[in-house]
Amino acid sequence: MKHFLDIHTTSQEDLRAIIDNAAAMKTARAGRPRGALDADQPLKDHMVALIFEKPSTRTRVSFDVGVRQMGGQTMVLSGADMQLGHGETIADTARVLSRYVDLIMIRTFEEATLLEMAEYATVPVINGLTNRTHPCQIMADVMTFEEHSGPIRGRKVVWSGDGNNVFASFAHAAKQFGFDLTFTGPPPLDPEPALDGLYTIERDPAKAVEGADLVVTDTWVSMHDPQSARERRHNQLRGYQVNAELMAQARPDALFMHCLPAHRDDEATSEVMDGPNSVIFDEAENRLHAQKAIMRWCLER
Ligand code: CP
Repeated sequence: MKHFLDIHTTSQEDLRAIIDNAAAMKTARAGRPRGALDADQPLKDHMVALIFEKPSTRTRVSFDVGVRQMGGQTMVLSGADMQLGHGETIADTARVLSRYVDLIMIRTFEEATLLEMAEYATVPVINGLTNRTHPCQIMADVMTFEEHSGPIRGRKVVWSGDGNNVFASFAHAAKQFGFDLTFTGPPPLDPEPALDGLYTIERDPAKAVEGADLVVTDTWVSMHDPQSARERRHNQLRGYQVNAELMAQARPDALFMHCLPAHRDDEATSEVMDGPNSVIFDEAENRLHAQKAIMRWCLER
């Protein structure tokens, strides 16, 4: 059983194979209509359940389109509409769904929910985001970096802002893909201690981005954060906004990434988001290709 639960729990060889396969699959269907089937159809006769306990645009649409391009079928399920949201256990849900579908993707709150789903499912389970990690996003980000700037091994990546779940997957990727990761943000929003040793801290954002090949940020208030924290977060993070002045301290060819959705002119200015170094929409597109490669990998015998 090959689940895709996190970047640090997948081998370096498998991660590299997934990225290379994603790039090959993207090239193979360049210029074709979005709805056209891939030449080979690795998900032909396969049914995929996409479970969302949190909102989503990119994850939902890119998984749905990706399954269809590979010849499979999807059912998109809202956690609130399932018995899962009304007291049925995760273990029972996993065992029941495994009798109907060939693959499960779940976006949920607690990492424990994902892990229990994987423990009891008899089909592969993919992590579509938890409060702790977002591995599919970072696979797309690594693919996007390499598309524009070549191998990521040995390069400098700087994260400015909240040490959240997306940062956590960047930290896992830094070890697995061999790049240097710097975190710049205020101490109350430091990444969780379990990630210590995977990145360095530089509190001064201008110093942090010196020599950076990639500057990344994310929303200042994540989906699982209380909205009551919004004003405090903005006060804490204002100095870590990615703007033209900050990007000028990085390498001239440094890329800018944001997984989206963004709050324009909070964590990053529109000038940067729409500027020549920004690859935010390539990142969004590459969710499709990276996840197709992840699903293929999960179903390979
Ligand atoms: N980046 C990301 O996961 O986007 P969605 O929340 O829209 O799926």
